[in-house]
Amino acid sequence: MNRKNFLAPSILDANFLDLKTQLDVVFKGNNNIIHLDVMDSHYVPNLTFGPFLCSQIKNYLPNIIDVHLMVKPVDSLIEKFAKAGANMISFHPEASLHVHRSIELVKSHGCKVGLALNPSTPLSMIEEVISTLDFVLIMSVNPGFGSQKFIENSLKKIEKLNSIIIKNSYDCQIEVDGGINDSNIDSVKKAGANIFVVGSAIFKSEDTFKSSQFFHNIVNAD
Ligand code: DX5
Ligand code: ZN
Repeated sequence: MNRKNFLAPSILDANFLDLKTQLDVVFKGNNNIIHLDVMDSHYVPNLTFGPFLCSQIKNYLPNIIDVHLMVKPVDSLIEKFAKAGANMISFHPEASLHVHRSIELVKSHGCKVGLALNPSTPLSMIEEVISTLDFVLIMSVNPGFGSQKFIENSLKKIEKLNSIIIKNSYDCQIEVDGGINDSNIDSVKKAGANIFVVGSAIFKSEDTFKSSQFFHNIVNAD
């Protein structure tokens, strides 16, 4: 099973006073995945945006929309974001009382499903359900904020997950989220990731277009 590489810019650190232009610059005319970091100020301290933003972006751009739910409880928002046009939905297993049921709920809405693993959450936590997942989101920072430092230990976790997927021929993508920048993206790629969430390194850079092109080219290079 070959895993195609995708850049998934997170709009968390975008300039929301100029969001339409930022979306054009980073997503228009390419296959970048739009990573929406949904935070409820309960599961994580921060509070971001709801399904309304997802549906507005869905009506504006054809790109895949990847909703990262950092919320608790999970199920009601799965429904709302699926109806708002999400193509991929991930949630944190600690945030659902019945993880297998929440996975099935995402699938019942026709969305690709992933589990998001915090830096302290072991891969063993998903061993009973990994064969049912479309992707695993490895958090290389603690969830809740952009512009944090990449946790180096994540590389070992990505390698371990990659070998599990290959050994079992699971049809499962590896998405990595948090602190990815020009100095570590090659190591993240080498470790086995194929979907790269990049937030501040794009939206807080001097030139949003140039940095998104830079990361797009690295991710898509052989
Ligand atoms: C954390 C978020 C961030 C964000 C990426 O909860 O999931 O990781 O998407 O932000 P940067 O790339 O700035 O770390
Ligand atoms: Zn995220």
